[in-house]
Amino acid sequence: MDDKRVYIFDTTLRDGEQAPGFSMTVEEKLQMAHQLARLGVDIIEAGFAIASKGDFEAINLIAREVRGSKICSLARANENDIKAAAEAIAPAESKRIHTFIATSDIHMQYKLKKTKEEVLELAKKAVRFARNLVDDVEFSCEDATRSSKEFLYKIIEKAIEEGATTINIPDTVGYTTPLEFYELIKDIKNSVPNIDKAIISVHCHNDLGMATANSLMALKAGARQVECTINAIGERSGNAGLEEVVMALVVRKEYFDNLYTSINTKEIYKTSRLLCRITSSFVQPNKAVVGDNAFAHESGIHQHGVLSNPMTYEIMKPEDVGFPSNRVVLGKHSGRHALKSRLSELGIELSDGDFEKLFEEFKALSDKKKYIYDEDIEALIYKDVIHKDADAIKLLSFQVQTGDNMLPTATVSLEIKGEKKILTATGDGPVDSVIKAIEKALPNEPVFLDYSIKALTPNTDAQAEARVLIEMDGIKSSGVAIDTDIVKASAKAFVDAVNKSLFKKQVKDKTLEGV
Ligand code: KIV
Ligand code: ZN
Repeated sequence: MDDKRVYIFDTTLRDGEQAPGFSMTVEEKLQMAHQLARLGVDIIEAGFAIASKGDFEAINLIAREVRGSKICSLARANENDIKAAAEAIAPAESKRIHTFIATSDIHMQYKLKKTKEEVLELAKKAVRFARNLVDDVEFSCEDATRSSKEFLYKIIEKAIEEGATTINIPDTVGYTTPLEFYELIKDIKNSVPNIDKAIISVHCHNDLGMATANSLMALKAGARQVECTINAIGERSGNAGLEEVVMALVVRKEYFDNLYTSINTKEIYKTSRLLCRITSSFVQPNKAVVGDNAFAHESGIHQHGVLSNPMTYEIMKPEDVGFPSNRVVLGKHSGRHALKSRLSELGIELSDGDFEKLFEEFKALSDKKKYIYDEDIEALIYKDVIHKDADAIKLLSFQVQTGDNMLPTATVSLEIKGEKKILTATGDGPVDSVIKAIEKALPNEPVFLDYSIKALTPNTDAQAEARVLIEMDGIKSSGVAIDTDIVKASAKAFVDAVNKSLFKKQVKDKTLEGV
């Protein structure tokens, strides 16, 4: 085995998707999984098969269709979970079952209500059962960083004896620190007699902002698998970001003892954007590696330095991660060919039918604004081409009457499950009146948790990006929309969030109690 090789285990579709606001449809998960395979991740944790019908279907579809990465499902340490996981991943060319049980006193006593001996037995039985179904079994000691070391050594040794091929050490609550975690991994390497028969993996959460640092220090101590997510999404404050871990190993190769991964770093930015598009999320502008400002130099001194020699202020080149350098792309005179080649640079594949729909929308937009940016194209694709037919509610048209001496009044025309409805309302301003009119069509009034509007480009004909976060029937959903008209962008973003809430309500049969 190559001691320098680090395996990348991507859990965007499982731990990432579990986080509020990041649920994906089965088709969206498949699209994301194809891109993860292109990115070169070794293992895709495609979901938690027993958690819901939707999760099972997504894992199964990914197992059937995605090649190049190992497909994995999570399972608690019991036979039903493991059977569901094995069934879901069955069609995959290369597969893994990831089974876990909590090992910290607090989890064993309050969550599992089991003694150490009982937990040890359950772990042994689970790994044995899983190994009878597949050759590759990963065992995780949930809340490892708050577990007794002696108990960890024992349960790891037994899991390996039963056939676990990867042992994962999760920092489930993001509690550890880089040096402490380094020592834990070293201690496991030195104290578990059969540890050389398994790969040590780490899975760090970012509650104290140390997930990436902790993962990297674990690699220095001898771990050889990192569990991470795109854009660092995941439960609560998220998981270690794949882009951060991978680029730290590339940029600080010597410091990290020449460790390397199989990731094609040029696919990183594309993967990050795809996740944003699919989940209507955005990464903070100053986010490491993939944020909008990651390669932007504002101050004169920095700009001068970068122009003389980029390495004065850049430790990696934008093209290393596939970050687009030329952001102004197309306009009124661009034809099909130009649009197609820009799509291919952005890594976007569309069917002929969807391409034609996009081209129509593109032409309509270029009549309204001079320059069409990458963000504009992505927005058109996601909002107007791919999702147009899937939404329960469609905004057909609207009109608003407003002025400084009148009560703003809006009339909206909606299509709800094929039926046309016209609704009117007044409000505090044009946006509020349109939203109030749309709300009249809903069974329950959503609560607005957040609303923002931002010009995407620096001109008055700019497209405005509206984002809303709402709560409806106890379900939080975000919506995003882009239009040159801010009222329309806001209305579309609201309808987008409502559609997602309605969709999530349908798949809300996730029963993860006890996880
Ligand atoms: O954070 C955690 O402990 C997990 C396990 C299921 C690996 O996500
Ligand atoms: Zn986790």
